[in-house]
Amino acid sequence: MNNPASRYGSKILRGSVFAAALWLFAAAHGAAGEVTPGNQSSLRGLTPLDQSPPAADFKHDVPDREPYTSNYVYQPPLIPHTIRHYELSLNANTCLSCHSFKNAREAGATKISVTHYETREGAVLSDVSPRRYFCLQCHVVQTDARELIANDFEKTDSLQ
Ligand code: HEC
Ligand code: HEC
Repeated sequence: MNNPASRYGSKILRGSVFAAALWLFAAAHGAAGEVTPGNQSSLRGLTPLDQSPPAADFKHDVPDREPYTSNYVYQPPLIPHTIRHYELSLNANTCLSCHSFKNAREAGATKISVTHYETREGAVLSDVSPRRYFCLQCHVVQTDARELIANDFEKTDSLQ
């Protein structure tokens, strides 16, 4: 074992084991710390980035009530009904079984608007545009959730 390369190699190995131990120590203690640098706290709380915070409680939905009115022009309307167990996946889109142009009348639902047929280049397709397929990207069930951040947002004049 007089090979200089292997001696050098074992030094590197020892060095990195030490570094890893130091890192683990720092990580464990960092996790216990309550305050982030600069006293910042984010919406994900103080959970370190390499860990998942516990899932938030379900929001208190207020479906099946009069729809909330819009706050600004072009706002995706909130969903005024429950959507529990409605499949919305690559294989099935339950929303469209009521909201598509074809089914809306029979279901008594609002038709999706014509904008939902446009591609991002402005071409109008004969079916829902892929960019509008996953409805819940934009539409959410109305809830009585409190504001995440205090703000003094007011409705657009024309909608007041
Ligand atoms: C069983 C039929 C049915 C299904 C399935 C359904 N909806 Fe609805 N939806 C309705 C009806 C009926 C209304 C309007 C009456 C009301 O106030 O509940 C409505 C209202 C809405 C509105 C409000 C429209 C407006 O003009 O304010 C949105 C947005 C909406 N639904 C989105 C969705 C999304 C997204 C899904 C899928 C996750 C979905 N709906 C699934 C029947 C359905
Ligand atoms: C990229 C965001 C986005 C996605 C995805 C999307 N919508 Fe919308 N939706 C909007 C916006 C913005 C409006 C209001 C302006 C408009 O009509 O385009 C709207 C309007 C609506 C309306 C009301 C139409 C009216 O005439 O008042 C219904 C119903 C609706 N969407 C249902 C759906 C359903 C069902 C899906 C899924 C198939 C869906 N949306 C996907 C953004 C979206």
